[in-house]
Amino acid sequence: LDNGLARTPQMGWNDWNSFFCNVNETLIRQTADVMVSSGMAAAGYEYVNIDDCWSTKSRDANGNLVPDPQKFPSGMKALADYVHGKGLKLGIYSSAGTTTCAGYPASLGYEQRDAALWASWGIDYLKYDNCGDHQGRTGQQRYTAMRDALAATGRPIVYSLCNWGQENVWTWGMPVGNSWRTTGDIAANWGSIMGILDQQVGLEAYSGPGGWNDPDMLEVGVGSLTATEGRAHFSLWSLLNAPLIAGNDIRSMSAETRSILTNTEVIAVNQDWGGRQGHKISDNGNLEVWRKPMSNGSVAVVLLNRGTSTSTVSTTASALGLGSASSYAVRDLWAHTTSSSSGTISASVPGHGAAMYTVTGGGIVPSVAIRGVGSGRCLD
Ligand code: GLA
Repeated sequence: LDNGLARTPQMGWNDWNSFFCNVNETLIRQTADVMVSSGMAAAGYEYVNIDDCWSTKSRDANGNLVPDPQKFPSGMKALADYVHGKGLKLGIYSSAGTTTCAGYPASLGYEQRDAALWASWGIDYLKYDNCGDHQGRTGQQRYTAMRDALAATGRPIVYSLCNWGQENVWTWGMPVGNSWRTTGDIAANWGSIMGILDQQVGLEAYSGPGGWNDPDMLEVGVGSLTATEGRAHFSLWSLLNAPLIAGNDIRSMSAETRSILTNTEVIAVNQDWGGRQGHKISDNGNLEVWRKPMSNGSVAVVLLNRGTSTSTVSTTASALGLGSASSYAVRDLWAHTTSSSSGTISASVPGHGAAMYTVTGGGIVPSVAIRGVGSGRCLD
């Protein structure tokens, strides 16, 4: 969406993956505090997003949505002011149907009223779900109506479509939203993350600055996901140019979880201005190679081991799309070390794990660097 926002994938936090309907202003305030004190804000995280269940069960006499007074006793304007005071931005949630997924009132038919209310509160981000009755309208119609209502407010509001990949949203999402969910909901387990990953193959043609494929929010540090799995998940979502929306309780995260979420070398791959989404170039049973051509002529690579035991995963500079050179600089984005290679890129990768590098040398061969993109934008 050409609204000047999300020129690189948006970064932030959302309560749903850890708190579900248990959202309130204390959680949002404390999360904003920790976003700054933990170093997440400095690493690029900006949006603090409220998900479902924030309102009362019905609209007021004027037809306006009402924040639940038990959960948000100070009101949303005060909360937005607080979050803005931290140098951060506040997000809200609704659905392109008659109700949200948890059964609260939603915005179909109320687009202008709701957008104007959110803008008056100082809201900066809308996650727009697909639950409730659709009153016979297509997703494209329903999501476009809210796009227009948001634009009419004059307030810059990131617009995140959450219609779970329905109606091949990637084929029409670019002029409608800043990102679009490509699948059903993620869960905090390896199988869910790999299942979502498999559904991203081929979608790289459709994303670019202003509009991103969204394989759903991060589960790093949530539930029983291990740190090894979390590093793989974060590596892959970064390479896919996914919005990086943390879903853990950052107030109580371990030092290890924090170091994963604030790995600025991995984040730099996600935020690379060229906006080219990474994609799979090979798989061999449980072992996969994914690459992203970078704007500085290097290639980012994720070596993924989906199996349960440690295996060697390998590729070559040529397979990554680099021209020939006598040696290549290989930067390990997790170990933060640089080595040199004559052309083989290889790692011993633990089960449910990934290694991530950028490889520099030889330049990116044109057929890799200049790819058609669905946005119709020239990225080179
Ligand atoms: C849907 C969305 C989730 C979350 C819930 C809230 O399932 O896909 O991300 O927002 O609704 O009810």
